[in-house]
Amino acid sequence: MTEKKKLRSREWFDNPHDPGMTALYLERYLNFGLTLAELRGGKPIIGIAQSGSDLSPCNRHHLDLATRIRDGIRDAGGIPMEFPTHPIQETGKRPTAALDRNLLYMTLAELLYSYPLDGVVLTTGCDKTTPGMLMAAATVDIPAIVLSGGPMLDGWYKGMRAGSGTVVWFARQELAAGRINYDQFLEMVASSAPSPGHCNTMGTALSMNSMAEALGMSLPGCASIPAPYRERAQMAYETGRRAVEIVHEDLRPSKIMTRKAFENAIVAASALGASTNCPPHLNAIARHIGVELDVTDWDKVGYDIPLLVNLMPAGEYLGEGFHHAGGVPVVMRELLEAGKLHADALTVNGKSMGENVKTAVCEDRNVIKPYKQPMLPEAGFAVLSGSLFDSAVMKTSVVSPEFRKKYLERPGDPNAFEGTAIVFEGPEDYHERINDPKLPVDENSILVIRGTGPIGYPGAAEVVNMLPPDRLVKQGINLLPCIGDGRQSGTSGSPSILNASPESAVGGGLALLQTGDRIRIDLNKRSADIMISAEELEKRRKAWVPPKLVNQTPWQELQRKYVGQLSTGGCLDFATDYQKIAETFGVP
Ligand code: FES
Ligand code: MG
Repeated sequence: MTEKKKLRSREWFDNPHDPGMTALYLERYLNFGLTLAELRGGKPIIGIAQSGSDLSPCNRHHLDLATRIRDGIRDAGGIPMEFPTHPIQETGKRPTAALDRNLLYMTLAELLYSYPLDGVVLTTGCDKTTPGMLMAAATVDIPAIVLSGGPMLDGWYKGMRAGSGTVVWFARQELAAGRINYDQFLEMVASSAPSPGHCNTMGTALSMNSMAEALGMSLPGCASIPAPYRERAQMAYETGRRAVEIVHEDLRPSKIMTRKAFENAIVAASALGASTNCPPHLNAIARHIGVELDVTDWDKVGYDIPLLVNLMPAGEYLGEGFHHAGGVPVVMRELLEAGKLHADALTVNGKSMGENVKTAVCEDRNVIKPYKQPMLPEAGFAVLSGSLFDSAVMKTSVVSPEFRKKYLERPGDPNAFEGTAIVFEGPEDYHERINDPKLPVDENSILVIRGTGPIGYPGAAEVVNMLPPDRLVKQGINLLPCIGDGRQSGTSGSPSILNASPESAVGGGLALLQTGDRIRIDLNKRSADIMISAEELEKRRKAWVPPKLVNQTPWQELQRKYVGQLSTGGCLDFATDYQKIAETFGVP
């Protein structure tokens, strides 16, 4: 058999020009039972980038799935090599999991580049594990395929679906209003996590795994299969098999993750009601693969796409319902037939997106709506700018009817509202003062949080969705408009204006805001402004003193030094200079 392309791993294991190094490279990898013939035999070596561990319960299931990935790799004629990746648990990492996305990225890029791997299976799940791994695969550009771990089974509490995260925000309101006690609060929250898997809502995890599928980086149908279902293990097997084939076909991420693929992902995000973390994560992946993608593309390409998926937080159902209805392929088919998809975008199974989804059948119209009868007509991200920031994102699919009525449908001034700023210096300050009776917060306030961007927090905290003070919640005011330079959980139904860039820590407009200032938001004009004079603004800018940032770990210091803003993906900016590096082996 003639090989189309020399395997990368042969540089290590079968390089007659450098017998000494080859011997050294070879001998220790024989140590777990591999034979010389196997390693020299020209079989592709497929890495399994293992994200599961006890520290990352959302991905822990991959420790079991790896057995089936290995079977698939072996049956297709490859050699599996499993290795650990930097763990990220969204709900366990302090000060915030987002700090570690770039650490996972950088460490995985280093491993993929510098070890004898011909291809890799990326085991994704919890929020940042998916973008972190795709960013690494993008930089190195060796054949890569995503295996999602899958959402947990649906959670139930007293006959009602209890969704990850979403139930926390609800239970927190109930606790604040005094309708439940602390024990009931914890019981309610625990009910949303009934099995292995990642969040079962359309939070950041299910959104980003769906994005991986919409980009074409996983096999069709991969994202939605719940973690404990037998189909998940079957998908692991098929993914392992396919990982070997893509090496033979030299099907690299750069051939799949094109501008067209990103546009497909953006329209899918609107239809899914996906997380506000999708824009920064996808923009980061795009930068690492060298595709031009601007934060305003989310508005231009995706704003007028309707909401089709009835999943919390924008709707009622959870992961199991999404899967039974047909998952991402059905959503893509709706978009395809509406002419909103680049049908010819290549995917990792070697076929185009159009071919993959054209026969997908919806099995439950309660969960995935037809394009012409959507849940909402325009459900994309609005990207705002003004004196408060150069850009910030608002997720319109979660604007509740109450919010719409109160703020966006006022006669004479539709889609615009004004409020008085109450400014918090980070989440600690918010928690300390929100229930202070002296805080001048009322139903006409806009809650603003700053110091929570990628440099300020560091990592960009998920804190912008702030609950009003308990006394307002008790009066039935559960929601106030929120603005911030941090992020918010994908499981939150708050229509906050977030990811404000540049952040306050580097002197963005939010840094100049004072409690008591009037703020005007106009969604028609996509504007967000402080209602003070240009002179006053300039005066404040001149008087502004950068905050003193205190690091607790060396990584925090490094990240703060090199990280960019959320509008451009929150990347380590210097790292985007490294493009498609797999083949630079041995070149000084
Ligand atoms: Fe891990 Fe939501 S906390 S997926
Ligand atoms: Mg999150």
